Amino acid sequence: MQILHTLDEMHKLVSAARRGGKSIGLVPTMGFFHAGHLSLMQQARKDNDLVVVSVFVNPTQFGPSEDFKTYPRDMDHDARLAESVGVDVIFNPSPEEMYPEGYSTYVEVERFSKGLCGASRPGHFRGVATVCLKLMNITGPDRAYFGMKDYQQLRVVQRMAADLNLCVQIVPMPIFREPDGLAMSSRNTYLNPAERRAALILKKALEYAQRLIDEGVTSADELRIRVVEFISTEPLAQIDYVEAVDPDTLDCIKTLDHNAVLALAVKIGNTRLIDNTILKV
Ligand code: PAJ
Repeated sequence: MQILHTLDEMHKLVSAARRGGKSIGLVPTMGFFHAGHLSLMQQARKDNDLVVVSVFVNPTQFGPSEDFKTYPRDMDHDARLAESVGVDVIFNPSPEEMYPEGYSTYVEVERFSKGLCGASRPGHFRGVATVCLKLMNITGPDRAYFGMKDYQQLRVVQRMAADLNLCVQIVPMPIFREPDGLAMSSRNTYLNPAERRAALILKKALEYAQRLIDEGVTSADELRIRVVEFISTEPLAQIDYVEAVDPDTLDCIKTLDHNAVLALAVKIGNTRLIDNTILKV
């Protein structure tokens, strides 16, 4: 497995692969791998001749008071894990390589970027869309893999790919969870043991919501209120949002008469966690 740091090196590698008729799979990440990341790489390994994983903690998607500086990083550990699942190349550029002096172009996916996480993280999806487009331009993938754990991010990237006529298939991947149900996330490492136990409230709340639907609840407002009450029983939890949205448009829904995504963002101590599920109506 190679670890490349510059655009020039990537360009040479990708051009050679293309000339050789090889298909390319891209897995964009910010590193500090867990089994969720690895599941994306394993799928990319099955589908493509060349698997490129980018490891880049993208400064443009962090707000000024967010955790850009402290975001966990461990390149040696990441390299070992990526190699163990057959990744060919890690692309690990510096912030200066991606955003040199004078950089001034950003992508705004207007419709999907404002609600949910976009409301409490203004500018976040602009940074995500911009870096994903840049990474796709740099690596020229046939397929790019995104986890449904970040459901809104997946929708933003799919919309951008369609709107800007990108020749890439966006492949959605299921949420990978710890054995007790907590969705895997690099940020889980911030949790102390008590917070780690409290964090289970997210997954439990999603299951509770499905039970309410099975019992006949059809009002999205009632569902929201009861899920908020449920999460509030956990003293360490502070809710950012609980929303039932249309899986395609991400618009809030009023009546649960078709499948919906229930999306949660909850702070456990100082750590903001997100999770979601597709509610089966
Ligand atoms: P990061 O949080 O490192 O996640 C990289 C990819 O792994 C994303 O597509 C994310 O949805 C997926 N992923 C994370 N946790 C997962 C889980 N438990 N199960 C399945 N997939 C999971 O998301 C980002 O980085 C960045 O925003 C990025 C897209 C790389 C742009 O900077």
